[in-house]
Amino acid sequence: MKNSVLELYTRIFPGSPRFLVRSPGRVNLIGEHTDYNDGFVLPLAINYAVWIALSPLDENRVELYSGDFDQQLGFDLGEIRNRKETWLEYIKGVAAHLINKGFNLKGFQGVIQSNLPIGAGLSSSAAIEMAAVKAFSGVSGFSIGVKEMALVGQKVENDWIGVNCGIMDQLISAGGVRDHAVFIDCRSLDYRPIRIPGNALIAILDTATRRELAHSAYNERRRQCEQAARFFNIASLRDLSLELFLENRSKLDITVGNRALHVISENQRTRLTTEKLEENDLKAAGKLLVESHRSLRDLYEVSSPALNQISEAALASRGCYGARMTGGGFGGCAVALVDANKAENFQEDLYRLYRNVSGLEPKIYLSSAVDGTELITV
Ligand code: GLA
Repeated sequence: MKNSVLELYTRIFPGSPRFLVRSPGRVNLIGEHTDYNDGFVLPLAINYAVWIALSPLDENRVELYSGDFDQQLGFDLGEIRNRKETWLEYIKGVAAHLINKGFNLKGFQGVIQSNLPIGAGLSSSAAIEMAAVKAFSGVSGFSIGVKEMALVGQKVENDWIGVNCGIMDQLISAGGVRDHAVFIDCRSLDYRPIRIPGNALIAILDTATRRELAHSAYNERRRQCEQAARFFNIASLRDLSLELFLENRSKLDITVGNRALHVISENQRTRLTTEKLEENDLKAAGKLLVESHRSLRDLYEVSSPALNQISEAALASRGCYGARMTGGGFGGCAVALVDANKAENFQEDLYRLYRNVSGLEPKIYLSSAVDGTELITV
């Protein structure tokens, strides 16, 4: 990727770029639909990323060519308007929010290219946002920490793009740690790297289906969680104990109760999974992944037939400790914890089993965990 982005730059602009930015996508191992409930998540940054090659401009302007869309677009930093039209909105949104926070931004020209599948639930938009923050920090000469970067990205999604997401995707894209998953407390935004045991492999399983109606269902789940928190008079479901929930469950709407039970139990599972990984107990960690999937399927109702089929196919494949849907749901990818010595057997079985049951061709990415967004001076 690195060379192809450098080459692309020299094809579009004279000279060579001053900076390179690499910003990874993510897969979440466990802790789903917990981030906007102030809960816990355990994602990792993956070796598929958005890249930008860029050089400062004297003008107060951004000129960017997208290799993925074969399109060059630009905007003036002094006059940023939200048109909600193209991939450029992510860059404009980041610029607008950084300016709002008091950063003095300089312009740049550059190219952007990604090998992250778009819309597969691997957070390509968070990766673009974090790449844009780093690109501006490079040309403008300021430094910015991981938490602050993530908050800027989340604000862009919420206010500029209109997607009501939590903080997980941006925080892991910016703060990923090589060979580690990262346990994030989504209330304090404190995070702790958890080493992925050497005998384990994280497989990302693309169902070849894409999310549909995901936005409205996502927002509905958020509202139901808020409704449950209001009922218990707490700031968020993070603060609800299982005991108190069970004592009062019958007074809650059944669906709202199911949503709350998912969040409470998922937070517990996420904490337990970190312990099991640290103890190198892959069997126990895998079991927790399977429980998470059931809870997302039956209580939170964000799975899909394809996600159920691929998770079951994974479980029936050689070398699999556990599997579950990952990300927002309704399509996209599942994640599996696999015995590193059986990677080939696993892929062979999964491919055949999923294709037989669904008629679709899965894509399998065996990903290592990589560091978060980085700025490289060329
Ligand atoms: C999407 C959102 C995240 C998170 C997940 C579900 O990926 O962007 O903030 O809520 O769904 O865990």
